[in-house]
Amino acid sequence: MDLHTPDLAPINFQDIIVERPVERVGLIRLNRPQALNALRSQLMEELINALQSFDHEATIGAIVITGNDKAFSAGADITEMANATLTDMLNRGMIERWRQLRNIRKPLIAAVSGHCLGGGCELAIACDIIVASETAKFGQPEINIGVIPGAGGTQRLTKAVGKSLAMEIVLNDRRLTAEEALRYGLASRIAPLDQYLTDAISLAAQIAARAPLGVQMGKEAINKSFEMSLADGMSYEEKLFYILFASEDQKEGMRAFVEKRKPVWRGQ
Ligand code: CAA
Repeated sequence: MDLHTPDLAPINFQDIIVERPVERVGLIRLNRPQALNALRSQLMEELINALQSFDHEATIGAIVITGNDKAFSAGADITEMANATLTDMLNRGMIERWRQLRNIRKPLIAAVSGHCLGGGCELAIACDIIVASETAKFGQPEINIGVIPGAGGTQRLTKAVGKSLAMEIVLNDRRLTAEEALRYGLASRIAPLDQYLTDAISLAAQIAARAPLGVQMGKEAINKSFEMSLADGMSYEEKLFYILFASEDQKEGMRAFVEKRKPVWRGQ
């Protein structure tokens, strides 16, 4: 499928499908169902490419990443790594590619169903919000193939669910049901299987209809909280709060409140 953007030339994708299901929402479907959406290099490259395109597109306000009902993703492609040496892995920069996910400024919502394992779980956690179907199963089974998670499974996951549970997940392949993921704060909502994607898209549409700069800075500030001390994070938040007073949308939002009307956001 082609993704046309004003900034970038059309791109042909093989491992993902790119759609615009409703106004201001970009949808990326991982599309290797025969391999349970294993994240081979090509898929990751296409995913990053599509995310960056949507991120640059002014008409898009939020992005949903999904797989299919059976699998969000079963992780990094094991066949691609099976014979790799240390040098191969260093030279390929496999995980380096993932760092670009952190530079996406618009909100990312993972709509997760079925297997969400290894790199698949790390991809979901790298998103800003997880909407899970009742059948979603989260886990980091890398220990079964003699390794550990390499793209956030020991770091982001621990911050989300706490040390003891993260240890069980990483050291002993404990899988979390959707209910558990919700209880431990990994996901923020669960929906029936026939509803989770619609719910994720509808949530994305609601966020995408809000003040774009505020959404962007809110995301940035919350994500910084994982990397900074409380004092530094508070100071960072304060600066972003003040910066928004340089935007037209702040003037419009507060004027609209005073005038008792709906604001019209311009993203400026
Ligand atoms: N890589 C490559 N291929 C995979 C895959 C993966 N991670 N996961 C599944 N597949 C392939 C299978 O090889 C199989 O292909 P064939 O039909 O050609 O044999 C196909 O997808 C369907 O899988 P199964 O037949 O195994 O399906 P199942 O329903 O019996 O089992 C499963 C499902 C429990 C998820 C099982 O496929 C599985 O355990 N997959 C591996 C999960 C895993 O270990 N993930 C971690 C990867 S390492 C990683 O992600 C590192 C990191 O941190 C970045």
